[in-house]
Amino acid sequence: MQLSWSLLLAALLSQNSNAFSIGTAIRSSSVATPTTLSATLESPAETAKKSLVPPSEIPDDDVAGMFEKFVQKTYGRYPLTIASGHGCTLTDKDGKEYLDFVAGIATCILGHSNKELSDAVTSQINTVHHVSNLYLIPSQAKLAAWLVENSCADKVFFCNSGAEANEGAIKLARRHAAINSGREITDPVIITAKQSFHGRTLAALSATGQPKYHEGFTYGGEMVQGFTYVEYNNIEELKKVVAEMNTTPPELEKEGRKRGVAAIMLEPLQGEGGIIPGNKEYFQTARQLCDDCGALLMCDEVQVGMGRSGKLWGHENLGIEPDVFTSAKALGGGVPIGALLAKGEAANVLVPGTHASTYGGNPLACAAGLAVAQYMCDHDLLGNVQARGQQLTEGLADLAAKYPSILADSRGWGLLKGIKIKDDAGVTAGELVGDAMKEGLLLVAAGPSVVRFVPPLIVTEAEISKALELFENALKKHS
Ligand SMILES: Cc1ncc(COP(=O)(O)O)c(C=O)c1O
Repeated sequence: MQLSWSLLLAALLSQNSNAFSIGTAIRSSSVATPTTLSATLESPAETAKKSLVPPSEIPDDDVAGMFEKFVQKTYGRYPLTIASGHGCTLTDKDGKEYLDFVAGIATCILGHSNKELSDAVTSQINTVHHVSNLYLIPSQAKLAAWLVENSCADKVFFCNSGAEANEGAIKLARRHAAINSGREITDPVIITAKQSFHGRTLAALSATGQPKYHEGFTYGGEMVQGFTYVEYNNIEELKKVVAEMNTTPPELEKEGRKRGVAAIMLEPLQGEGGIIPGNKEYFQTARQLCDDCGALLMCDEVQVGMGRSGKLWGHENLGIEPDVFTSAKALGGGVPIGALLAKGEAANVLVPGTHASTYGGNPLACAAGLAVAQYMCDHDLLGNVQARGQQLTEGLADLAAKYPSILADSRGWGLLKGIKIKDDAGVTAGELVGDAMKEGLLLVAAGPSVVRFVPPLIVTEAEISKALELFENALKKHS
């Protein structure tokens, strides 16, 4: 078995001999034949050493070729290789500079190579970087305290990403409906919005109200059960669906089952769905509907939270307090971390054995989170977001007036802005993003017809002006 596997590997590698000559040479030399087996008496350690190709021996001068060959094609990538970054500027491998209005998709709020963030991470990794949640972690406790001090939440659970935080929220809502709320619901329904985006894991994807993302992932045509979708900002439909889902159909009742709304889960501003801000009255109605039936109001703050809207949390723009909200992206300034925050009785639903995450809240990620939080306080980042957000709004409005055949309205909060590209503009949002990149400005589309501006929250007045100028250069090509 061992012998035939080695021969197969050697045959496969020989087909690709141009790719990795050093690796191939090492691997080929370790192929055992009956003669070499009897002739060499290597120790297992020596054999293992020879059969491993060290990363240092893998040539990396053709990154695009390596992506083509070795990386699963889940992303449509631009042919751009970033070599370094500083502040709001990224530099590619050929030395060309770009103004970064993507920020790792609304993530690197302190920009790139921020000294405070890099000092904090360096110091933590030189001390202790991961120990597991079997033990007490001071930076996790402190970051949890900071989040609680600066929000309506009472307790925090840490994880690694937005999708993972939302998975936690979904589990929390189900368990609350079944056990903690006194409602003993067997069929807990979570109401989410059409055009929402909650992440790519299976339950978060099921919560995502965009059928295109569900294609190919169903079982018997169904995603994870227990989600129903309503039009965002439509108060009447929300009321109707809450009433319907709080009624158990007779066929379920016969089986001793009880259906009820476990949660309404909404983004305060829909990001991936096209930069659509939530409506105050809609969120206040959602709050009231939850209070009336004992369901939880849950906000997905993964994109809009941690200062991007000009307030620390997006829901603060809507005059409501959720029972549960999730954070990720900006929380670590680009170092992976996610959080599930809960208030009141919701904060005590997840007990030992019900939920966990090996890396969640490890010393390294929490040191990054604390550095981001400290910087935000020391440099009045929220004030900067408000001022620069206003400047961006005005600049985009000027461009919309100047290029009315291409641009429709701009919308959004703070430094999470989108501008709609008209259906008959003759250019798509994706194409404009490509043109802007040629001009030296990085942008990202939000859906098929919106160009999104999400710079680091440290962005300066001059950088906003420059970005508007570069975006206009891209527009000129189509006017
Ligand atoms: C609102 C929202 N929720 C969840 C996610 C998923 O986050 P992650 O990619 O960290 O899993 C995203 C990502 O864009 C998001 O915008």
